[in-house]
Amino acid sequence: MIGHSVRTALALAAGLEFMALPASGLPSSNYVLHEARNPAAIGQFNGPRHWKRGNRLDPNAIIPLRIGLTQRNLHLGYEKLMDVAHPSSDRFGKHLTEDEVHALFAQADETFTEVHSWLFGMGINETDIRQYANKGWLAVDLPVSKIEDMFYTQYHEHEHEGVLKIGCDKYHVPKHLSEHIDYILPGVKLSPPMVKRSMTKRNQVQSHRKGWAPKKLSPQLSHWKPPPYNPSLPSDLQDCARNFTAVCYRALYKIPLNNLPVPGNEPAVFESGDTYSQEDLDAYFHKYIPYIANGTHPKLQSVDGADAPVAQKSPYNTGESEIDIDIIQSLIWPQSMVLYQVDDRPYTTANNISGFLNTFLDALDGSYCHFTAFGITGDSPGIDPTYPDTQPGGYDKPEMCGTYKPTKVISISYGESELDVPKNYLLRQCNEFLKLGLQGTTVLVSSGDYGVGIGPDSNATCLNGSGQNQTIYNPDNPVACPYLTSVGATQLQPGTTVQDAESAMQTPLGPGAELFASSGGFSNYFPVPDYQKSAVQKYFGEHAPRLPFYIANNEATNIGENGGVYNRAGRGIPNISANGANFRAFATGINYHWFGTSLAAPLWASIITLINQERALFGKRSVGFINPVLYGNTGALTDIKNGSNPNCGSSGFTAVEGWDPVTGLGTPKYPELLKVWLELP
Ligand SMILES: *[C@@H]1O[C@H](CO)[C@@H](O)[C@H](O)[C@H]1NC(C)=O
Ligand SMILES: *[C@@H]1O[C@H](CO)[C@@H](O)[C@H](O)[C@H]1NC(C)=O
Ligand SMILES: *[C@@H]1O[C@H](CO)[C@@H](O)[C@H](O)[C@H]1NC(C)=O
Ligand SMILES: *[C@@H]1O[C@H](CO)[C@@H](O)[C@H](O)[C@H]1NC(C)=O
Ligand SMILES: *[C@@H]1O[C@H](CO)[C@@H](O)[C@H](O)[C@H]1NC(C)=O
Ligand SMILES: *[C@@H]1O[C@H](CO)[C@@H](O)[C@H](O)[C@H]1NC(C)=O
Ligand SMILES: *[C@@H]1O[C@H](CO)[C@@H](O)[C@H](O)[C@H]1NC(C)=O
Ligand SMILES: *[C@@H]1O[C@H](CO)[C@@H](O)[C@H](O)[C@H]1NC(C)=O
Ligand SMILES: *[C@@H]1O[C@H](CO)[C@@H](O)[C@H](O)[C@H]1NC(C)=O
Repeated sequence: MIGHSVRTALALAAGLEFMALPASGLPSSNYVLHEARNPAAIGQFNGPRHWKRGNRLDPNAIIPLRIGLTQRNLHLGYEKLMDVAHPSSDRFGKHLTEDEVHALFAQADETFTEVHSWLFGMGINETDIRQYANKGWLAVDLPVSKIEDMFYTQYHEHEHEGVLKIGCDKYHVPKHLSEHIDYILPGVKLSPPMVKRSMTKRNQVQSHRKGWAPKKLSPQLSHWKPPPYNPSLPSDLQDCARNFTAVCYRALYKIPLNNLPVPGNEPAVFESGDTYSQEDLDAYFHKYIPYIANGTHPKLQSVDGADAPVAQKSPYNTGESEIDIDIIQSLIWPQSMVLYQVDDRPYTTANNISGFLNTFLDALDGSYCHFTAFGITGDSPGIDPTYPDTQPGGYDKPEMCGTYKPTKVISISYGESELDVPKNYLLRQCNEFLKLGLQGTTVLVSSGDYGVGIGPDSNATCLNGSGQNQTIYNPDNPVACPYLTSVGATQLQPGTTVQDAESAMQTPLGPGAELFASSGGFSNYFPVPDYQKSAVQKYFGEHAPRLPFYIANNEATNIGENGGVYNRAGRGIPNISANGANFRAFATGINYHWFGTSLAAPLWASIITLINQERALFGKRSVGFINPVLYGNTGALTDIKNGSNPNCGSSGFTAVEGWDPVTGLGTPKYPELLKVWLELP
């Protein structure tokens, strides 16, 4: 056998039995230590300390070896994004093309070839080596003794409460492969359990709330009194605290009326399940924006069989799409807009899959369909929709990959709990938002509507920790991803006008929505990004909430430790906010009052579109990922200092001076923001 001699040669080079090696010594000068268990990590909740080391594995046992191949530049993503998005960078605004982004993250062919030929050289039969899609992993089943020789390691059983896992304390790889191998399994991370027994269940929240479904109230609200007549305001601004309209948005944030549409700057809304009706859009335009003609509608870019519009009385018309379209279309007129309507009716109707957004992102970036990152390749079956969908009425074609070019601004008023999907699923998806930012797209996502929980019932939407009973705060996804901009909501207090300060949106809306309030808090998965550090530090330094906290570990397995209710080390949510209360618009033919952070993301999407167009007139590019600029120019926002976001049995966080996890940095001052972005290259 070819490989046999190679193996012997290595064993000879090592010169002695592996077990006898001095701890610091290398087995061979051609080998390097690749991973060793961090002694500091021992003792973490669920960490190796709880696992009792047992026997060495039987050398003849056949076990599955998985070699994870290095994904190029995943670790450089943040740096690259700051390079084009940080106001102090001299490459500010110099976004990458789609091809450049693909090349940046593509795996080097060399990586696969090198590792594969090493395995072959080790005497492993080529037909036994399996490769996963996109060459992210190499897999082969081998005797334990063979793997121990190849990686200069020793495998032990580890036991904890009847569950068996296997792993090693450290292992080595040939020097020339260390840049190509990410990690091996089993390795210093223990294998999946070998004998399944009931494991401690994580606080999984079962409700997959994907629509933030803005709340609607009927127009007859007898207890609402109009404010006293204010002679300094025109008649259409007398009543913005009760009947909020596009005119109120313009006055509150000083958004100009006549805008020049610049081709290529049409913003887009993401919608899924909920679907607009033309009749409701017409009724809205006719009543509130009469210069927009009936029949005006967004350009449909349907993803994987989604359809729009629907009839006015259709059960799929629940208001979200119409509110999003009404707000954006009013404020950017005469510019037009795009509608990404996503996923076929069987999937959106059953609503029984825990993931969302991946099929949408696939449609914008063909490479994402098969992209490997964080150990996951492509969509996750069982979490994401799978196409072709053979269910009746399903989209019976392969899923769309790279069908549409991403618009410069995308508004998403949907979300769910961060813990609804696995952490690596979110890390991979978040990296895709980074790629959109690199290409100059701004993604705005509403932060959610039930304060520090994700729904009206704390029993269903707050977390249990070690001992706590539904009192731990539950951050949302995708707003936890640091590469997009999360938007909370504000409101005018009853009896005030657009000349008064806003508060955090917090309005009891009757049974089931007593705790309706702008969502915010701290991620359990994502740490604070650099651009946010000083804002978050200032918040904790000057306004530390009187709430117990914990520091989430890398796998987020210690949520609720020490009685804490939030992760003090997480990325703060939201970034910014805007009015989301009492907006007047039609759904199913009825003129309602609408509430929710769902309204705030489209408002910001409109503002960024107008700013991009102004920049375009000076030959400047779109603003792309906006957070670094906002954190460096807080004077261009109105700080919101009143209100809070209670839920989960406690008071939540409080809006204070500076950034806070209720209203972020605050609401827009359009002229100031425009000035900041016109001064940037
Ligand atoms: C590799 O495996 C194939 C199929 O099992 C077998 O036919 C072949 O002889 C093997 N080659 C070596 C070198 O072991
Ligand atoms: C939390 O624990 C309670 C019982 O104390 C249970 O009813 C509830 O379903 C649990 N919630 C979650 C999200 O696990
Ligand atoms: C404002 O809202 C109140 C309460 O629903 C309603 O009575 C009043 O007619 C509204 N005003 C306008 C101008 O729509
Ligand atoms: C536009 O649509 C609205 C609502 O259906 C209707 O009341 C109005 O008459 C229409 N306007 C025109 C010019 O057709
Ligand atoms: C979701 O529901 C549909 C229709 O009820 C069913 O066919 C499908 O298997 C379900 N999918 C999952 C992941 O449960
Ligand atoms: C949560 O409590 C509400 C009433 O407080 C109840 O209607 C609902 O069924 C409960 N949900 C769960 C999942 O226990
Ligand atoms: C958890 O709290 C709910 C009320 O929020 C209560 O009904 C339930 O009995 C509590 N469960 C435990 C185990 O304390
Ligand atoms: C800003 O937004 C990003 C992404 O949504 C988030 O990670 C970060 O914590 C936010 N920071 C602040 C201070 O709002
Ligand atoms: C502050 O917010 C609270 C709760 O939303 C509200 O009742 C109060 O009127 C607000 N105060 C001011 C000064 O806006």
